[in-house]
Amino acid sequence: MENTQAVPAKKIMLSGIQPSGDLHLGNYLGAVKNWTELTDEFDCYYFMADLHSITVRQNPAELRRRTVNQLAQYIACGIDPEKNTLFIQSHVHEHAELGWILNCYTMFGELSRMTQFKDKSAKNAENINGGLFTYPSLMAADILLYQADFIPVGEDQKQHCELTRDIAVRFNNIYGETFKVPEPYISKVGARIMSLGNPTSKMSKSDPNGCVFLMDKPDDIARKFKRAVTDSDTENCVHYDVSNKPGVSNLMSIYSSVTGKTFDEIEKEFDGQGYGVFKPAVGDAVIEMLRPIREESERILADKAYLKDVYTQGAQKASAMARRTLRKVYKRVGFVEKPF
Ligand code: TYM
Repeated sequence: MENTQAVPAKKIMLSGIQPSGDLHLGNYLGAVKNWTELTDEFDCYYFMADLHSITVRQNPAELRRRTVNQLAQYIACGIDPEKNTLFIQSHVHEHAELGWILNCYTMFGELSRMTQFKDKSAKNAENINGGLFTYPSLMAADILLYQADFIPVGEDQKQHCELTRDIAVRFNNIYGETFKVPEPYISKVGARIMSLGNPTSKMSKSDPNGCVFLMDKPDDIARKFKRAVTDSDTENCVHYDVSNKPGVSNLMSIYSSVTGKTFDEIEKEFDGQGYGVFKPAVGDAVIEMLRPIREESERILADKAYLKDVYTQGAQKASAMARRTLRKVYKRVGFVEKPF
């Protein structure tokens, strides 16, 4: 007998990463690791945010290489292309189109308040371009096109997610219900991994010594952890205290995120052993977590035809969804329907 009961639609998850650098431990623990845990429960869309990348000058050949590498790494991290939609942002032209429209519903003052804009313009004083400024409207378009329910990101993207909500509510208030208002999905541990060289600033690709890349070799990872800056207190004890012990607290967050142990359990495990034992132990845990990801990435990367197939199918599936939302938006704002 045919089952006529409607299956409730799964909620939608969506997120992206800029291929402006190689994936690092912050991207993994803050974002990708969560994505892998949500595959079965949600309808998931994950993409390489290449349109965003060019807000900072990129070498074209490197950008192309990193975009495809990033896809291989997503898959190697456990994001199964059979269950998730994986695509390259520039392959779905609706992102740029909705991005333009949402620019017209985003206020200059709102964009001026974005801390990432302030940070990035301080770092790229010679190239503070319009794209860098309006990038949150494009990010809002990325999210709203898919009617996403949740956005799994690290802490630093929270402000952009909140602006996305404001833009969606504003648009809905003017034109009637058009966009789902999404919520950020931020994990308790690992949402803000700090630099190993300077634990008061965020781990980022622009600081290669304080940053562990997913493709780093075990020796390099071990060296980076051994050299990790710990705190200048005389206690030499493994204890979680972000204000007074930012270095050790960061290492504890990494260890907790990798092993699933609580801070209490970690403090007990290293009781009386000091930083000299703790730092290499964190390094070893990270090495063992990343080893299969690196090996699997290398294997997948060798099969360029497979990767092309994944991003082609991903873009087709994503486009179908994006097209539907964009058509609705065009109608709402008053554009004449395209006759072909
Ligand atoms: P991006 O490319 O800077 O970072 C990608 C993801 O990694 C997280 N992350 C971190 N998490 C913890 N600790 C860190 N040190 C760390 N560094 C980075 C980020 O929070 C993010 O989740 N604008 C976004 C990309 C984007 C996007 C989107 C995300 C474009 N469109 C739509 C979600 C939905 C960005 O630049 O992230």
